[in-house]
Amino acid sequence: MFEELLKVTHGSAAFQLLLAGVRLGIFSKIDEAGEIRLSALSTNLPSTEPRSVLLIKGLAALHLLKTTDEDDCMISNIDAVSKLFKDGDWSVFEKLVEFQAQIVNPGQMNFVESLLHDTNSGVSAFPGSGPTLYDRLNTDPALTDVFFGYMQSYTTYASKYFLEEVSFADSKYLIDVGGGGGALATAIIERYPHIRIDLLDTDFPDGTYKSHVESVAAATHENLNHIQTDILKDTFPTGATDVVFAHQLVIWSPDQNHQLLEKAFNALSPGGRVIIFSSVTNEDLESPLMAVLDTVYFQSVASGHGQIYPFSFYDKTLRDIGFTDVETITLKTWTPHGVVIAKRPA
Ligand SMILES: C[S@@+](CC[C@H](N)C(=O)[O-])C[C@H]1O[C@@H](n2cnc3c(N)ncnc32)[C@H](O)[C@@H]1O
Repeated sequence: MFEELLKVTHGSAAFQLLLAGVRLGIFSKIDEAGEIRLSALSTNLPSTEPRSVLLIKGLAALHLLKTTDEDDCMISNIDAVSKLFKDGDWSVFEKLVEFQAQIVNPGQMNFVESLLHDTNSGVSAFPGSGPTLYDRLNTDPALTDVFFGYMQSYTTYASKYFLEEVSFADSKYLIDVGGGGGALATAIIERYPHIRIDLLDTDFPDGTYKSHVESVAAATHENLNHIQTDILKDTFPTGATDVVFAHQLVIWSPDQNHQLLEKAFNALSPGGRVIIFSSVTNEDLESPLMAVLDTVYFQSVASGHGQIYPFSFYDKTLRDIGFTDVETITLKTWTPHGVVIAKRPA
């Protein structure tokens, strides 16, 4: 009866156990061995008993490891973890955990504060004075690397599923709004090398993401161009066959999204497509759990105006602007990814 309540009450300890398991390579060691005895695994960890054993037992109590009944039990990975290793996605999950540890959790410490002041108070956990996390990333190269290290791997992972559902065979000129480190743009251009892509994003400090995007663009994809711009204030280029928003509209309020999608409408040639690629919640706003919990970060840290939206929000906003042929697709990922596609009438 009290299990759920107490699990959440001690949720911070649960996350620390997971983080330790990831950073100390517990899941990787088990994956290499298939299964391993408690004594063999615990002596392979940097701390001595009882710390090492208590870490493993804590992970088992959370059902993040499987154990047998003996004293010196056999330990194996749960099916979800085994699948991440089998599919080559473990490093994506590791970077997600680091992003939670180094950016989301320090920011979310201010969640109640953000509710009381109706703003993203969590951004104060990061150096700088800009109103959004993205303004502040620019002041700290180490933070930029954690953020984009995660973003690149997360987007690269989801892009595989995205490209199974969305074809760019007939596209000529694509605008990637807030394209970040270029993970999606790179995935698209690798499959469709005939497309020209303009990636709109803010400036990044030298030596971090600015040089990364520009070196990717220059070295491998002469058709990929980084345009330094403020997507909220500046107008977009025109004549596009496609305008893509990947992990972008979740940052902004309904009004800001209306304006961004209106700019996309004006940037498109008649018959062109807008494509939204992001986490999506179910209409009840109560599931999937990952999407519901992610909203706390968008409300209290990122810009304070966004959330993980349901498909109906995009559908209505797009139709209000004049888009037609709205189509929604749920991707078969372990993340709550969905896609919305709509057309500017010909
Ligand atoms: C969550 S990341 C998504 C990056 C990329 N689309 C992806 O899916 O990997 C949001 C991106 O929006 C950019 N961004 C935020 N505010 C912006 C603004 N006002 N103008 C331009 N870019 C902005 C950030 O720099 C960041 O690269």
